[in-house]
Formats: sequence, C-alpha cells, structure tokens
Amino acid sequence: MAGAVSTNDPTQTPKRFHVKSFGCQMNVYDSERMGDLLSAEGMTAADSPDDADVVVLNTCHIREKAAEKLYSDIGRLRQPRADGSRPTIVAAGCVAQAEGAEIAVRAPAVDVIVGPLAYHRLPQLLEQARQQRAIDIDMPPVPKFDALPARKVTQASAFLTVQEGCDKFCTFCVVPYTRGPETSRPAADLLREAEGLVARGVKEITLLGQNVNAYHGGLNLAGLIRELAAIDGLARIRYTTSHPRDMDDDLIRAHAEVDKLMPYLHLPVQAGSSRILKAMNRAHTRESYLASLAQLRAARPDIALSGDFIVGFPGETEADFEETLTIVREVRYAAAFSFKYSVRPGTPAATMADQVPEDVKDERLQRLQAVIAEESLAFNRSTIGRRCTVLLERPGRKPGQLIGKTPWLQSAIVSLPGAKIGDLVEVDIVGAMPNSVETVPVSTREGTAA
Ligand code: 5AD
Ligand code: SF4
Repeated sequence: MAGAVSTNDPTQTPKRFHVKSFGCQMNVYDSERMGDLLSAEGMTAADSPDDADVVVLNTCHIREKAAEKLYSDIGRLRQPRADGSRPTIVAAGCVAQAEGAEIAVRAPAVDVIVGPLAYHRLPQLLEQARQQRAIDIDMPPVPKFDALPARKVTQASAFLTVQEGCDKFCTFCVVPYTRGPETSRPAADLLREAEGLVARGVKEITLLGQNVNAYHGGLNLAGLIRELAAIDGLARIRYTTSHPRDMDDDLIRAHAEVDKLMPYLHLPVQAGSSRILKAMNRAHTRESYLASLAQLRAARPDIALSGDFIVGFPGETEADFEETLTIVREVRYAAAFSFKYSVRPGTPAATMADQVPEDVKDERLQRLQAVIAEESLAFNRSTIGRRCTVLLERPGRKPGQLIGKTPWLQSAIVSLPGAKIGDLVEVDIVGAMPNSVETVPVSTREGTAA
C-alpha cells in the first residue's frame, strides 16, 4: 500500500487539520478531543477540509446512511487540488470501527482507519501513515481515557466523559458492537479533572456517557455527582444519556438533594408501546418508565424531561405508534429527538419480519414531530413567570446580547450591559418561543421599577 496512498509530499509534516463530526454528542466530544491531540502536536485547525493537510471524518453509525456519507466524502477529498496535493484522509468513529476492513478494501484513498477506542493513538497513526496505511480498530481492555491530554477549555460549560460503551443490546442499535462493553473512569481521576476545568473558568460540567447512569467507577453516578457538587466554583452539573433501567433510587434522591444538579433529564423511552419495547429489548415497559418519571417528579417537581423516539420499528402497528403519541402527551416532554427506524446490518432488528414501509415511517415521523413541537412550546410557555439563573455561554447575534441556558436547558438571550460569558445572571422568563425563551434580567427590571 506504501506510496499509493501518500499525500503530495510525504516528507513534509502536516500543518493543518480539519475534523468533521457526523453524529451524536459523544461523537462531537471525540472530535474535539482529536482536535486537542493534533493541536498538542503543533498542528492548527482549518475551518474547511479544503485548507487542511489532514482531514478526519469522524463517523457515527447511529445516523442514517452513515457509510454512504463517508464514502462520498472520501470520493471528494481524494480528488487532487489545484496544486496537485490531496489531504491525508482519516476515517474515524463508529463506522470505521464496525466496517474498517471493508473501508480498507473499498477506499484505498483512506490513509488511517481508527476506531473510537483507539483515537488517542492518532498522532502515531498519522506518523505511521507517512510510510504505509495505518489501521487501529482494536478494542483494548484498557480504556483510552488515561492517554488523552487535558481538555482545552474556552467555554463556561464543558463535557466530561465518565463512561463509554454499552451492554444493553437494544435490538436496533449498533453501539454495543462498535463502542464495546460499558467501562467507567475512576472517580478520583474525574474529580481531579473537574477541579482543573473549574480552575480554568468552567461553571457547568455535563457528565457524558453512552449509558451514563450505569457509571460505576468506585462510586455510582449519584455518588460522583455529590462529590462534584462539593467543588467550589462549579455551579451546575448535568449528565447524559441515561437508560431507564439504571435510574436508581440513589440517583433520583440526588435530584431532590443536590442543588447544583440541574432539573433536566434526557431519558430516552424509544417507543410508547410495551410490546414494541419488548421487541427492542429495552428492559423497561411503558408503565415502568412512567413510574420512574413519577418518582423523579416527586423528588424534583420542576424537572424537565427529554427523550429519544424511534418510529417504524419492525412490526410497529398504527395502534403501537399511537401509544408513542400518547406517551409524549402524557409525559409533557420539554424536548425530544425522533428518528425513523433504520436498519443497521448485524443487529437483531435488521432481520425481523414486518419491516415498516418507508412512506409509513415518514408519515409517522411527521405526526410525532408535530406533537413534540406542541409539547416543547407548551413547556416553554409553562416557565413564563419563573425567576431563574442563566449561564451565559456565547455571544448573541446582536451587539450586547449573550446566549445562555436556563436550568431547564432552554436557550435564553440575555441583554445586560457589562455581562460576560461565564456569568450566571438572574432573570425572569417573560416569553416563550418554540426553541428558546425571552428573559429580562432581574437587575434591569428592578432598576426600571425604581
Ligand atoms: N434507527 C433509528 N434510530 C436509532 N437510534 C439508534 N439506533 C437507531 C436505528 N437503528 C436512535 C435512538 C437513540 C438515538 C441516539 O438514536 O433513539 O436513543
Ligand atoms: Fe444503543 Fe440501547 Fe445501548 Fe442506547 S442503551 S447505546 S440505544 S444499545
């Protein structure tokens, strides 16, 4: 393979990189960490793949047509540029993990194939690729976490990966095959890393994991949250994504007792029909899911809920689908993500009978999304009149405006002279839009009244 896949001048060290993220939050986080790794090697980020010497395509298998998108990007990137050069192409992420061998055969232009459990080796793999194609899609028993450099932070809010992988084997999902079994980072390491983030100005930490509430790194997730809450200067804690099966009493109690734990929970149910949930191997029923939510609401009455839904799972009838619509109404979700079921080769659902026709899936998705949109607007409206804090995270479109998040993860635009990113501003919610709320800072309001 040597020579055939070399870039324009293989003796030159690559200078600029571009990482393209295709998927979920975990995938975006991994992209940032790969960027950090390459920056630590002295490379700089390029805004566009056209200006980069190394292009990382960080694929996500959960998204539809993931492999096709990868191949079409590779096709574009391997065309020589005006100066005859072409970038070093890295296929990373879950598609690389699951289909690495196929990519190696189908796309000779790819220089490096690296799975999500090996990307800490990216600099070495790039070095190796200057001689010959480099592939690392092993699933090492030792997690990659320790090998990663400390996260570079510029924002008020940071992600901290505490757990990876999944043992649940939902019949539609490829994650257990691509990300491997559930592994947790030791709590002591996480607490040290969190203190470092706070020392650099981070006010909010979102604990990240494919099954974050299955965390078991010496402490359980509730224990970790309580320890984090003791860090001075850390104002807010969130976690995502959770599985209903792991929503234990201790974690529910933490929602009642830990002020810094924000009143928001992403708890995917996937479908409203217990019959379909069984076929999905979700290990919860509609009833047990609703019972967990009732306990959570008893612990934290204002908790905002969000979820994921799949429509058109094999065998889903109109009556099953209507149960998904009714659960959205019953739960009153603040937000939700919905997907058409899409076959993932190698998963049990791929070969189930009664696959639902595409036009039926389309129609169900539209109906579901209309109900979700109504519910999330209703949720935003229900918060009008509340006084709360907004953590300012980024500049707004107009001068003097900053955009931040309420405790319930609503986007809020704040106009307050002198306010800056990282500030926690007390506001009154005065208006609601489908995807954000309108706020008035308490200090301006009281200033006006005086
Ligand atoms: N088809 C459609 N949606 C899927 N998801 C995972 N796998 C599939 C699939 N094969 C959705 C689930 C999950 C979210 C991240 O992606 O709803 O919670
Ligand atoms: Fe996939 Fe289910 Fe694991 Fe979530 S819990 S990552 S949907 S197998």
